[in-house]
Amino acid sequence: MATHKLLLLPGDGIGPEVMAEVKRLIAWMNQNGLGSFETEEGLVGGAAYDAEGVAVSDATMARALAADAVIFGAVGGPKWANVPYEARPEAGLLRLRKDLGLYANLRPAICYPALADASSLKREVVDGLDIVIVRELTGGVYFGEPKTIVDLGNGQKRAIDTQVYDTYEIERIGRVAFELARKRRNKVASFEKRNVMKSGVLWNEVITALHAREFPDVVLEHVLADAGGMQLVRWPKQFDVIVTDNLFGDVMSDIAAMLTGSLGMLPSASLGDLDATTGTRKALYEPVHGSAPDIAGQGVANPIAMLGSFAMALRYSFGRLKEAELIETAIANTLDKGLRTADIKSEGTTVVGTRQMGEAVIAEVARLA
Ligand code: NAI
Ligand code: MG
Repeated sequence: MATHKLLLLPGDGIGPEVMAEVKRLIAWMNQNGLGSFETEEGLVGGAAYDAEGVAVSDATMARALAADAVIFGAVGGPKWANVPYEARPEAGLLRLRKDLGLYANLRPAICYPALADASSLKREVVDGLDIVIVRELTGGVYFGEPKTIVDLGNGQKRAIDTQVYDTYEIERIGRVAFELARKRRNKVASFEKRNVMKSGVLWNEVITALHAREFPDVVLEHVLADAGGMQLVRWPKQFDVIVTDNLFGDVMSDIAAMLTGSLGMLPSASLGDLDATTGTRKALYEPVHGSAPDIAGQGVANPIAMLGSFAMALRYSFGRLKEAELIETAIANTLDKGLRTADIKSEGTTVVGTRQMGEAVIAEVARLA
């Protein structure tokens, strides 16, 4: 069995609490022949700032580059509200994304049957939902230049953000989406606004050409992003994989997240380029939620987003689909049994803490394996 090198970066707040459950799961898998993982731990965010004066040190960055995958908890909190901008905890995550070249952000929105009533939408709209949003993460309007506020001198100011996309950036994110769709229900919806944005015109053109050239077997639909947002709420199950730019992806993935309930349930993956010689890609896996200072230190955080992020690492970095599914099924079964952390509790369920939820999921993995 191949040995996978993981760099664990627990971070701040509930980050270390939910990471503890991943460590428990990894130890169990190592002991029971379900995997061979070598783990190292590093500091990131406020924890790194306190110890090393930066949000992520060069030494930690080098270990991240050498690892087969980075498993990230969460960073930030009121304690670091006044640290210099470049050293703020969130800068650690931004540097990791940038230096690892993680341009593809995958956010699945899965509705577990046991939680279908927790959604703000009707049960039939979300029950069984299983879609993935593929968001371009390193380009677009968040990074394009010029990006400035100009004083016009007449009492007015002008704010400028610039949306920039090159062909190669659209092509590589499109490729991630089409390849992902082939392993799923073979459908891609590409969201842009070609009717009002030049970047939308190019986006549409590049995705269309890529589809014709490399992925004609995948069903492709072009959707204007505003109409897509409507459809995402009206009948989300029509989608399989949605690919879109950084800005629309930011919004759509937060909408999709709320289709399925709590932040504590949502995993994510950020992927870089495939290395043709090794067949591997740089990757970071993290829960969507932050460090939740309001509940940190109480042992009540929901570890499912973190455990699900580790399952994504098994799937996308290591090709261990069977083990990834095992974990996801164990999570679903644990919820079916009525176990809940406080963030997802409902009438008639049993509320447990972080550790008990982690242990219950592992016990279920053990039963299924
Ligand atoms: P947050 O995601 O930390 O918390 C929002 C709300 O959801 C809170 O009420 C929290 O208790 C709850 N929540 C989040 N995760 C949960 C879990 N696993 N189980 C149960 N409840 C959970 O977002 P917030 O409060 O806006 O930010 C807190 C800090 O986290 C800030 O410093 C922010 O910058 C940082 N942050 C970091 C992120 C990251 O590391 N990727 C992402 C988002 C925020
Ligand atoms: Mg967002």
